[in-house]
Amino acid sequence: MFSRRLRWPLERNEYSRLLAARRTAGLEILDLTESNPTRAGIAYPPAILSALGDPRGLTYEPDPWGLPHARAAVAALEGTAPGRVMLTASTSESYAYLFKLLCNPGDRVLVPRPSYPLFEFLARLENVEVAPYSLRYRERWEMDFDSLRERLTPRTRAILLVNPNNPTGSYVRPGEIEQLGRLCSQHDLAVVSDEVFHAYAIGGAARTAWEPVAAAALVVRLNGLSKLAGLPQMKAGWMVLDGPPELLREASDRLELIADTYLSVSAPVQHALPQLLRLGDDTRRRILDRVRENLRFLRGVCRPLPVEGGWYAILQLPEGLDEHALVLDLLGQDGVLTQPGYFYDFETDGFLVLSLLTQPAEFREGIARLLRRLSRMRPA
Ligand SMILES: Cc1ncc(COP(=O)(O)O)c(C=O)c1O
Repeated sequence: MFSRRLRWPLERNEYSRLLAARRTAGLEILDLTESNPTRAGIAYPPAILSALGDPRGLTYEPDPWGLPHARAAVAALEGTAPGRVMLTASTSESYAYLFKLLCNPGDRVLVPRPSYPLFEFLARLENVEVAPYSLRYRERWEMDFDSLRERLTPRTRAILLVNPNNPTGSYVRPGEIEQLGRLCSQHDLAVVSDEVFHAYAIGGAARTAWEPVAAAALVVRLNGLSKLAGLPQMKAGWMVLDGPPELLREASDRLELIADTYLSVSAPVQHALPQLLRLGDDTRRRILDRVRENLRFLRGVCRPLPVEGGWYAILQLPEGLDEHALVLDLLGQDGVLTQPGYFYDFETDGFLVLSLLTQPAEFREGIARLLRRLSRMRPA
């Protein structure tokens, strides 16, 4: 009766069963995975709610691209023309539109590994196959172009990347962009760059320049209020389109038809968007302060892998330690919730992913318990 798209096991795994049992029993959980800014004790300006009260929100004026003044505000922020910006309800919806635009059922997109776990779901729900290319850690995370080339088939339509990547915190480099440009023009591929964490540079980073790819191929950058303004509940995202003029025009016409079928961004949030973006500057500063504070603490007590941007840190475990068993012990015995590397499809065992968004007192206590457990487990 049901579609083959939904070919995932629907029962809970050991990790979620243990977590649910602890929650039901009311036991302590120090959550080192918190990635929801609205639950992380970040102070939000009250003006956010009043921004939603614009009386123009009472009128339904559907526009598949989004309302002009909202797109203009996004365009100013993104350094582009309003005509290149399409509003969506979220980054997830942007991906769904792009897979409809670029792929026939059974076509393939290349996704980084390790990276954002939702890619497989987002693609498969559109009948698109994902094939991973590697990010390799050699003092910093780098795109492995050999693995990328190996995964190319005549049915490959796009290369996806997250910039900076979740959870490795690594930005794409100019040299990598040059190589992407050559590959995309040789194989007629589009690039989709998820930039939801782009403004969260730990040490300050310049905007990535996509011109070398956009000269020959379609480039779509994704962003939204979810991370940029710490407002995932507002359900407002956008795509910024770039590429050779003819390709851009064709892509825009087709995307307009897709968006016109859904018209999913609410009027109140579109009218509020310019103000929410302005207020987001303050929220983003607070989030970045939090991330930097937790990272400073972490670097003081252990050696996380280098982080350039985003909200996550990675600990590489001593050789031979089973990350799955460790994560379950940490939760079951120490009340500390962490994520194992395999949630993000790391190529080898032995990584923990920690959210730097967690409240500092909780983060410190969680890390102290984690390090105590590790010191007990370390081979003598
Ligand atoms: C890389 C990445 N892209 C997109 C999202 C979600 O964005 P949205 O809420 O706009 O769908 C997340 C959320 O964690 C993310 O990590």
